[in-house]
Amino acid sequence: MVMKEKIDRLLAEVQSFNAENAETLEQFRIRFLGRKGHLQELFDEFKTLSSDQKRDVGQLLNVLKNAAQEKVNSLNETFKSGKTVSLSENDLTRPVNFLEAGTRHPLSLVRNEIIRIFSRLGFSVNEGPEIEDDWHNFTALNFAPEHPAREMQDTFFIEKNPDIVLRTHTSNVQIRVMETTKPPIRAIFPGRVYRNEAISARAHCFFHQVEGLYVDKNVSFADLKQTLLYFAREMFDASTQIRLRPSYFPFTEPSAEMDISCNLCGGKGCGFCKYTGWVEILGCGMVDPAVLENCGIDSKVYSGYAFGMGIERITNLKYQVKDLRMFSENDLRFLKQFESAG
Ligand code: DAH
Repeated sequence: MVMKEKIDRLLAEVQSFNAENAETLEQFRIRFLGRKGHLQELFDEFKTLSSDQKRDVGQLLNVLKNAAQEKVNSLNETFKSGKTVSLSENDLTRPVNFLEAGTRHPLSLVRNEIIRIFSRLGFSVNEGPEIEDDWHNFTALNFAPEHPAREMQDTFFIEKNPDIVLRTHTSNVQIRVMETTKPPIRAIFPGRVYRNEAISARAHCFFHQVEGLYVDKNVSFADLKQTLLYFAREMFDASTQIRLRPSYFPFTEPSAEMDISCNLCGGKGCGFCKYTGWVEILGCGMVDPAVLENCGIDSKVYSGYAFGMGIERITNLKYQVKDLRMFSENDLRFLKQFESAG
């Protein structure tokens, strides 16, 4: 029946209608509910129907009238309350789903900077396992069987006999690389290390190191010192001074610890450097000939230097992070402060 179809079509139109502004809503109102609108027209036509047909159509006609009226009322409300109306599912003015950009972790920023500096000197990058055997973590590095570093309070043992440990330093990668590569070797090894320490502002049970190794013919202590001076000046600033103090490590001979002039007070002395003007940043030395031999490298032909630094320590110096625990707490208030750093 023609009239029923017409009502259905108009009802669908009313239901899908949405107005951009009050003006288009008013046009809609006039078109449907105005004196010469669709509903008036339909009611006029309704009068001409037989009483049977009237029963059928009357109800539908009321549904259409109410729907049109409700649409006008509700859109009017929306415009009055100042809300905007989305025109369709594909409203291009809708804000996008906001995805917050992440930031790089300060330890990653510093590790990447260290890698960049040493790559400029021709060092490549290697990684080694965090779960390591006694040979690579201790024995091949010349640690005596009764060395205190092997004690339970320092090392996390995963198994005893055979000894499997969480590596206590990145020096294990020296052995892995020397066992499998013929000199010349010039590489750095960044990674995570583990020690059985009580967690506090100054110590953690895991932290990060970058190890360096250079093995070739005629490598001297002067090469080591110049490389480390270059590193310190690139990492901190061009006026940074370095100082090497004699020290002991089982895998280097001679060994040294390196201080840099305090980058907070410029070497004058402050609370941070305990009024000495210097802060320690790494250990280093000439690779012990016994270590070269353990890896099948002829110590009469080759010599080398090695160094190892803590990434947390360098990061503390650069960004003055007072508490080591902040690096692993994932507190966004801390991490977001590094948003603008490369
Ligand atoms: N492995 C040492 C540590 O964890 C750091 C170190 C010292 C590494 C001297 C070296 C080095 O390569 O030559 O304390």
